[in-house]
Amino acid sequence: MRPSALFPLALAITAFVLSLLCILAGRKPGFMENYHIVALNTSTLGHNLIPTTATTSDTPTSTSSGLDSIYSALTGDINNITDSIENDLNDILNTAADDLASALGIKEWYSLHMMDMCEGIYSPNATTKGAKYNTTNCTNPMTMYHFNPTKQIEDELAKGGLNVTLSDIDYPSNIQDSINQLHTAVDATFALYCIGIAFSGLAMCGALFELFSNGSRLISFANWGICSLASTALLSSSIIITVAASKIAHEVNHNGNDIGMYAYKGHKFLGLTWGAAVAMFVASSAWVVEFCVGRMRQKRGFKSSS
Ligand SMILES: *[C@@H]1O[C@H](CO)[C@@H](O)[C@H](O)[C@H]1NC(C)=O
Ligand SMILES: *[C@@H]1O[C@H](CO)[C@@H](O)[C@H](O)[C@H]1NC(C)=O
Ligand SMILES: *[C@@H]1O[C@H](CO)[C@@H](O)[C@H](O)[C@H]1NC(C)=O
Ligand SMILES: *[C@@H]1O[C@H](CO)[C@@H](O)[C@H](O)[C@H]1NC(C)=O
Repeated sequence: MRPSALFPLALAITAFVLSLLCILAGRKPGFMENYHIVALNTSTLGHNLIPTTATTSDTPTSTSSGLDSIYSALTGDINNITDSIENDLNDILNTAADDLASALGIKEWYSLHMMDMCEGIYSPNATTKGAKYNTTNCTNPMTMYHFNPTKQIEDELAKGGLNVTLSDIDYPSNIQDSINQLHTAVDATFALYCIGIAFSGLAMCGALFELFSNGSRLISFANWGICSLASTALLSSSIIITVAASKIAHEVNHNGNDIGMYAYKGHKFLGLTWGAAVAMFVASSAWVVEFCVGRMRQKRGFKSSS
């Protein structure tokens, strides 16, 4: 019995559970939705369609049918306060933040998870600080999922009945381009998480074995190897996913803020993945200590027997 193996055992269990959750979070509608990799806030997407006041030199565009119907949808929704609308665009945006997305037929947020994309509305509403993510639905979960909110928004606009297209809202194509560039990196993290989960599972078995054995340096060494592999996989995926999430958020904000699209990194997801990586790293260090203590014990054994 080696009680000192309890420490790496607890760490291996922690890493196993956390890395499993990295993959499973958001797999079903509403299951750990807060643990997304990136979330897009589209509650004000298309606000540039709302006609500004007559004072600005608005040139009529070819999309006036879309504009008119949105305008009437919005004015209808906010109790015919046409005068104040014309006076203060910001007022409308605040008042109609909840209505704009539904007027267009799109959702208020889209989120990237390891295996799917979810979408939904904010509850109680999009302008509330710390609003909850109320999930409407998610795509079918699959491995190596390709995040394409642009296609989803395009389809929903087409079904929305307002005759608005992506080009009407000046949707920049480089939003999707920048996401596509990170596609391979995000795929690679999926494989790395699987390796991390498998080796964390092995590390649990190894620690249990050590716990109930007399403790041998060979087992400590094998356990160190297993934990090092798991920790390398989890550290790599954490680094890749952190960089990818930051890049996606940065690019979407850079290109999308003008048309009312905002992106947020998933801090809770990053907490999960780094938690798993650090747990496994500490576990592999613990096995180094265990190995050295074993060696000292063995040396002492040789001395006393000679
Ligand atoms: C808003 O009110 C004006 C006059 O009060 C009316 O003519 C107009 O039809 C109303 N519009 C809507 C969308 O209810
Ligand atoms: C949003 O919800 C909050 C809290 O329920 C409420 O105070 C606020 O008036 C709502 N805003 C809009 C635009 O409905
Ligand atoms: C989530 O949205 C649905 C549909 O709009 C609504 O019925 C439900 O009350 C919302 N849930 C929360 C917690 O706000
Ligand atoms: C979504 O974006 C709008 C526009 O920037 C902002 O006012 C709102 O607070 C955001 N909502 C949430 C829940 O982050």
